[in-house]
Amino acid sequence: MVTAVAHTNIALIKYWGKRDANLIIPYTGSLSLTLDQFYTETSVNFDQNLDRDEVSIDDQSAANNSWQRVHDFLEIVREKSGAHLNAKVVSRNHVPTAAGLASSASAFAALAAAASKAAGMNLNNQELSRLARRGSGSACRSIFGGFVEWQRGTDDADSYAVPIDTPHLSDIRVVALTIEKHQKPISSRRGMALSVTTSPYYPTWVKVVESDLQSIKSAINQDDFTRFGTISELNAMRMHALTLSSDPDFLYFNGSTLDAMNEVKRLRHSGIECYYTIDAGPNVKVICQTKNVKEITTTFSKLFGPDKVIVAQPGPGIKYL
Ligand code: PMV
Repeated sequence: MVTAVAHTNIALIKYWGKRDANLIIPYTGSLSLTLDQFYTETSVNFDQNLDRDEVSIDDQSAANNSWQRVHDFLEIVREKSGAHLNAKVVSRNHVPTAAGLASSASAFAALAAAASKAAGMNLNNQELSRLARRGSGSACRSIFGGFVEWQRGTDDADSYAVPIDTPHLSDIRVVALTIEKHQKPISSRRGMALSVTTSPYYPTWVKVVESDLQSIKSAINQDDFTRFGTISELNAMRMHALTLSSDPDFLYFNGSTLDAMNEVKRLRHSGIECYYTIDAGPNVKVICQTKNVKEITTTFSKLFGPDKVIVAQPGPGIKYL
């Protein structure tokens, strides 16, 4: 039995749209920060006594659709490794209960690491990143700690994440506001497909991400938090503009999302520097530096309640237990 731990990541330059839905090759690169607070621990054991894959998630037998996704992923591992046995998978998400942050990124990164090793493969991190990508695109970034870039590539061999090794912006903090724990009504998979095929702005998004990626990497290089935060917030809003311009249109924000966004702007205008980013759901992550964490958590604790505010810092890459 092999056990692996992977942390979740938050994209600052978003991945939104697949060029190849089967291999999960994106139209654009993306850039993320791995977070220390949220992680998945997964054990895998290939066992000749099983007549089908067994999957338990958070101490419950996996629902049909989750079982199918894990099974499909294990099929890829069996095909690559030559292993043919069924597997027992036990996965636990260490995400504060109210968080609504349960992440396919940490889940598939941990599964890729545990399953490949249990099947006798000895993959390096680049190969692991490629494998994790097949489960969920953003999972390829959770193989590494700190800042990570997913280089979009053009096929299975060259689409993987690489760590950005830098001492810069190390006092960055992400204040996660866990506004809503319910599942998103439109999965990122379905949302991306809609935006790619129906948003008239999609071709512009592809171009703009290229320049957003260059800008954020040079901001990291120059240790420039203001540029870093500004471009992160802009890029998130550009992604959400794709949902609004799809046919049919859809929106991941709710009223509290807008309240949080306004509060971030108010704080910023009052001299507390912070920026927001939002994924495929209503929860808001506030990007800031250590010096402002106290003021920001106090403000949002008053607005949403202290149990809804979680402070994260840069987290580590994949680990085996
Ligand atoms: O990896 P997926 O299919 O869950 O897609 C992730 C999409 C976003 O979280 C919205 C953006 C990103 O780059 O993580």
